[in-house]
Amino acid sequence: ITAPLIDPFARAITYLRVSVTDRCDFRCTYCMSENMTFLPKKELLTLEELDRLCSGFVDLGVKKLRITGGEPLVRRGIMTFFEGMGRHLATGALEELTLTTNGSQLRRFAQPLADAGVRRVNVSLDTLDEEKFARVTRWGRLAQVLDGIDAAQAAGLKVKINAVALKGVNDDELQHMVTWCAERGMDLTFIEVMPMGDDIDRLDQYWSLKDVRAELAKQYRLTDIPLNTGGPARYVRVEETGQRIGFITPLSHNFCESCNRVRLTCTGQLYMCLGQEDDADLRAVLRDNPTDDAPLHEAIHRAIARKPKGHDFDYSRQSVAGQMPRHMSHTGG
Ligand code: GTP
Ligand code: 5AD
Ligand code: SF4
Repeated sequence: ITAPLIDPFARAITYLRVSVTDRCDFRCTYCMSENMTFLPKKELLTLEELDRLCSGFVDLGVKKLRITGGEPLVRRGIMTFFEGMGRHLATGALEELTLTTNGSQLRRFAQPLADAGVRRVNVSLDTLDEEKFARVTRWGRLAQVLDGIDAAQAAGLKVKINAVALKGVNDDELQHMVTWCAERGMDLTFIEVMPMGDDIDRLDQYWSLKDVRAELAKQYRLTDIPLNTGGPARYVRVEETGQRIGFITPLSHNFCESCNRVRLTCTGQLYMCLGQEDDADLRAVLRDNPTDDAPLHEAIHRAIARKPKGHDFDYSRQSVAGQMPRHMSHTGG
């Protein structure tokens, strides 16, 4: 059964997000705790298993593969995996191979990624202030990330910046971030902070993108555009600069209705929704069937048949509902 993946709400699943490691060289406060216990290496899928699993999804019609983490570029040997996935780009079975990264390792990896067939990368960068950056990431060096972005652009990769909108952190930097990205020919996407990880509700930091957009509209002419990257953002064009700004609004405007994606953890668990607990153990299926892919295809179909309607995050009553104890680094956002 290599039939395409259609979920119970008639949504076609064509986008797989794959977390290849739970580790990261930063500890962004909204993503990880200060003291994280990482998985022992033997728990991880091997690179061969990752390849086989992802190829299974491509067999079932997945067109877009986004590699995440943790920080995907700290996974040892990860270029072997990217190079392997390149063969699905070559046949046209896969339309896009890409990654979301904190940028710290891009100086080293940008060119090999481009050579493997990656055309664009999303770089998480919430502030352009060195001191604030060190605070948000707990110890990251802004200069290293900026250097990584330069390297990516020099290698011909298109860079999009992802910024989580954080009250009290980057609310005074809106205009600077827009101008800075425009000068470098980069699009910029804002993300609403979600109540994931630990017991912190993050309500104090929540900054609705409705307000961000209103703030931007005071300074720029914004035009809605129908750009569809396959991701959850809705885009506007800034008429003054020509750049695009995306808004990812899980709280202020739920986009689950058009969800096209599922996420695989570095241990081979498939999560049908970022904001729900249900998962399916694909690693067991893989290991029980070392040569035959049919059981894997079946297991994926069975999992997709359980995909829920959406998340339950809700900040609207000045308190948080739908809190998810799982850390974002577990499923890669
Ligand atoms: P593009 O291909 O450029 O559209 O990227 P993308 O938005 O699909 O991927 P990216 O990794 O840049 O995603 C940015 C963030 O959007 C993620 O880290 C999550 O925080 C959020 N996000 C992505 N998909 C979902 C989703 O299905 N549900 C929710 N609630 N948030 C999501
Ligand atoms: N809420 C919203 N976005 C988050 N990210 C990590 N944790 C959260 C959260 N709690 C984002 C990062 C990065 C992507 C992988 O996930 O900023 O862009
Ligand atoms: Fe690392 Fe990204 Fe999480 Fe920050 S958001 S701790 S850079 S995985």
